[in-house]
Amino acid sequence: MDVRWRQVMVEIIESSVQPDARLLDMATGTADVALLLHKQMPQAQIVGLDPSNNMLDVGRTKTAHTDHIHLQQADAQQFAKLFGPNHFDGATMAFGIRNVPDRNKALCEIHQVLKDQARFCILEFSEPDDSFGIMGQMARWFIRNAVPTVGAILSGAPREYWHLQNSIQQFPSPKEFGHILESLACAGEKAFRLDEIRHLNFGSVQIYSLVALKQSAVDAKMEHGETA
Ligand SMILES: C[S@@+](CC[C@H](N)C(=O)[O-])C[C@H]1O[C@@H](n2cnc3c(N)ncnc32)[C@H](O)[C@@H]1O
Repeated sequence: MDVRWRQVMVEIIESSVQPDARLLDMATGTADVALLLHKQMPQAQIVGLDPSNNMLDVGRTKTAHTDHIHLQQADAQQFAKLFGPNHFDGATMAFGIRNVPDRNKALCEIHQVLKDQARFCILEFSEPDDSFGIMGQMARWFIRNAVPTVGAILSGAPREYWHLQNSIQQFPSPKEFGHILESLACAGEKAFRLDEIRHLNFGSVQIYSLVALKQSAVDAKMEHGETA
């Protein structure tokens, strides 16, 4: 997977948080995004979560040089209690949401730990539609045919690459997923504002740039006489 896609996402996060922000990288895997966040924002405190201890072990070796990245085993669908509400200033999730069985539950858990107005970026594959022209059609052909075939040959793990291709095909289109994100309600309140869907790689990769809306946090501030 192309490091530039993750870099674009990290730059979006960097532009919307303080240098010493508390950041969450959900589905961190071997911590590639956490490391990019750290490189870009060395003062930030970064928590990387993933259910796979095997992936995290590789990540722990890669992040051993810094105490600004903390990796922990957790499932996106049930982790908010580890941190409590309004804990993080920003969050990322790269190529993870597609694999989560209950996506709404995971998104609401992430929403819970984010502060009001915190930036949350999701990086994910999708099949390009016809609006991307011939290059989009080629990218779609590549995902359907070359990814499983070439990936299987190069990696020796054919099942994983068939799963990748299948899961991309089954994932909602960017328009549909954008609608899911915009209309998501957590604890009865609209959860996110979708600022932008950035299309990369001829429409086969998207960055969904969201802002967490925490009406309850705003209400609490007003109660204490602070201006919202
Ligand atoms: C393709 S890897 C992406 C890893 C990393 N974000 C990156 O960009 O390289 C997908 C990751 O999603 C994780 N994952 C799968 N199910 C998950 C869940 N329910 N909650 C959180 N992460 C999950 C996997 O363990 C895996 O590390």
